[in-house]
Amino acid sequence: MLMVAVCVALVGCLQAQELQGHVSIILLGATGDLAKKYLWQGLFQLYVDEVGKDHSFSFHGAALTAPKQGQELMAKALESLSCPKDMEPSHCMELKDQFLRLSQYRQLKTVEDYETLAKDIEAQVKEEGLRETGRIFYFSVPPFAYVDIARNINSSCRPGPGSWLRVVFEKPFGHDHLSAQQLATELGSFFQEEEMYRVDHYLGKQAVAQILPFRDQNRKALDSLWNRHHVERVEVIMKETVDAEGRISFYEEYGVIRDILQNHLTEILTLVAMELPHDVSSSAAVLQHKLQAFRALRGLHRGSAVLGQYQAYSAQARRELQRPESFHSLTPTFAGVLVHIDNLRWEGVPFILMSGKALDERVGYVRILFKNRAFCVHREGHWAPEQSQCLPRQIIFHIGHGELGHPAILVSRNLFRPSVPAHGWMELQERPGLQVFGRPLSDFYAYSPVKERDAYSILLSHIFHCRKESFITTENLLASWVFWTPLLDSLAHEVPRLYPGGAETGHLLDLEFNGGHLTFSQQQPEQLVPGPGSAPKPSDFRVLGTRYRESPLISAWPEELISKLASDIEATAVQAVRRFGKFHLALSGGSSPIALFQQLAMGHYSFPWAHTHLWLVDERCVPLSDPDSNFQGLQSHLLQHIRVPYYNIHPMPVHLHQRLCAEEDQGAQTYAGEISALVANSSFDLVLLGMGTDGHTASLFPQSPTGLDGEQLVVLTQSPSRPYQRMSLSLPLINRAKKVAVLVMGRTKREITMLVSRVGHEPKKWPISGVLPSSGQLVWYMDYEAFLG
Ligand code: BG6
Repeated sequence: MLMVAVCVALVGCLQAQELQGHVSIILLGATGDLAKKYLWQGLFQLYVDEVGKDHSFSFHGAALTAPKQGQELMAKALESLSCPKDMEPSHCMELKDQFLRLSQYRQLKTVEDYETLAKDIEAQVKEEGLRETGRIFYFSVPPFAYVDIARNINSSCRPGPGSWLRVVFEKPFGHDHLSAQQLATELGSFFQEEEMYRVDHYLGKQAVAQILPFRDQNRKALDSLWNRHHVERVEVIMKETVDAEGRISFYEEYGVIRDILQNHLTEILTLVAMELPHDVSSSAAVLQHKLQAFRALRGLHRGSAVLGQYQAYSAQARRELQRPESFHSLTPTFAGVLVHIDNLRWEGVPFILMSGKALDERVGYVRILFKNRAFCVHREGHWAPEQSQCLPRQIIFHIGHGELGHPAILVSRNLFRPSVPAHGWMELQERPGLQVFGRPLSDFYAYSPVKERDAYSILLSHIFHCRKESFITTENLLASWVFWTPLLDSLAHEVPRLYPGGAETGHLLDLEFNGGHLTFSQQQPEQLVPGPGSAPKPSDFRVLGTRYRESPLISAWPEELISKLASDIEATAVQAVRRFGKFHLALSGGSSPIALFQQLAMGHYSFPWAHTHLWLVDERCVPLSDPDSNFQGLQSHLLQHIRVPYYNIHPMPVHLHQRLCAEEDQGAQTYAGEISALVANSSFDLVLLGMGTDGHTASLFPQSPTGLDGEQLVVLTQSPSRPYQRMSLSLPLINRAKKVAVLVMGRTKREITMLVSRVGHEPKKWPISGVLPSSGQLVWYMDYEAFLG
């Protein structure tokens, strides 16, 4: 007996059938919307599917409501249970009666309530002479309630040894990376990873669930097609006609990116983009490949997205949240985002993610559009769908709704005849007059499920059968937030374009992409959502040219400033390459240049990278692969996106002989030697500097004399903050440059900006004040916040 119990504990996910016994399912939030709309129906379906297979069940609907009222509300929720279409009505009635008898309401509020539940389950199992197989707790409650419930389950309601526990969570799983991490840590203190099932109900949609099996079954045909050489673009789309009315308090906090793109559309994107594991039914392998795909996603920036808001939204928000007439929300109800994947398979292929409320139609799909280089001489009327290379070539996983009205997989006949599962899917009959993406259905090999099933009933069945590949693991969740959080942060104050909603929206939200940028095709919005207060918009300002410390100053809003600096660097580079055949650029680390690196990487295709040498202005004494390393910042925001010959890249040698910045290793001297050997007169064409709030520049800090004068070109220095050891170009070397640009951004720099504007040449106190190229040019680039406060 003990042996059996141990085995069961170890193989918690053995098929439920093998374990034959009693399963208790506790639905928390049993009277809520989701339960009414989908979960009770899904549980009934589970019962219908499993009842004959040696398992007994009990269903506990739970909520905070007192027993009598809760019972009534739950009875209402259960009224609308419907039978599967293909089931004998009398048999169905019988099963429904059984199901209702097995479903009891109970109030779950206090820890004692949970203890009583545990005792009741044990007593029932014992009384009926059964063995307990497991318990499923479905959290259909707001996330703020998760932790308390989790604590109670963990302390008082775990099943005994040999039985499994499964807890199921509904999104939202956090608001950004940090909050998702906190929630995951808290839940992780109560449950094992294998006990947790995070639902993304799109993974239960039949067409989405077919993406990997389809790719697997058609490996031979797709092997050569599923890549940047053949795919023109990928569209992952979810359009809705409903608006957010009735859900504004949720929606105001989340908006469309968090509600749809961060989860549903990202999951679909990874299923399309990931490398295909050998065994697509292995959840561990699928997860590993998904995580790899996440790692290859290129970071998003403000220009990667466009936002919209349907016109009635703010009025609805005022009503539902009881806000004053002056309240205008900035929450986006529409978003388009352009995603790129930096790996050999997908480099250069745009993935467009788009979703919105109050649009002209309800439809969801992912469409892989293939490149077409053919030109057909024969008239179009004579093109045969199977043969003509001139017809569009596409594969569509049609999730639902739209013209087709149901899930489907469509493959253009001029691509290949696909294999689809022999069971469960059937070929679609021609529907005269029906057009899909502008083509008649007859242009496609088209398949749809024999039986359409709701996503929740599929997922409940997967939970019961311990099929974890359809759920979001902690790693998967955090990887997605890592990807989305910077974009969400950068868009926090973005004013969305207003759209009337429905068909009236016309072409107002049409998108186009150019390089790394996504924009609305119609440049002139008819009206903007008024921002809070009467703050001027960036476009109200022009780049301001004036002087600072007697050198030219360029000041603008951050985005414009970065664009200007990027263009100036490009112009300097082009000129240098024209005159000398190469361009020597020394770059600083830190946070300010990140946007610049991204801008250079994404938007400057004429940059002469092949002739550019990249040097570091300074470095922290950490390994080059450390996230704190300046080189690492350069690598992830610039180098990995551009093509520079590797011998033109010159990281600082801070890590030699397996130690960091040891004097004896002569790293500074080695770097100085490299500069002298490659850079004529050790005079860089351009040095990009920043200015710290204490007046430091490069890694030359106040009160630390090293590197401010003398012969040394490169020095080891001490920073007042971690990591304390640094390597830096010296002030004399910086001042030999042909051009020095100092980039200063953000309100925190305001004070030092003012101070430094008044001081003379006092590098010991403020190293930045010692920057004055002997025969070159110095230009200051400051955003309005740093310059004007
Ligand atoms: C949910 C979102 O996850 O998905 C809703 O919170 C959205 O805003 C819904 O309406 C759409 O799901 P479906 O299954 O109706 O396409």
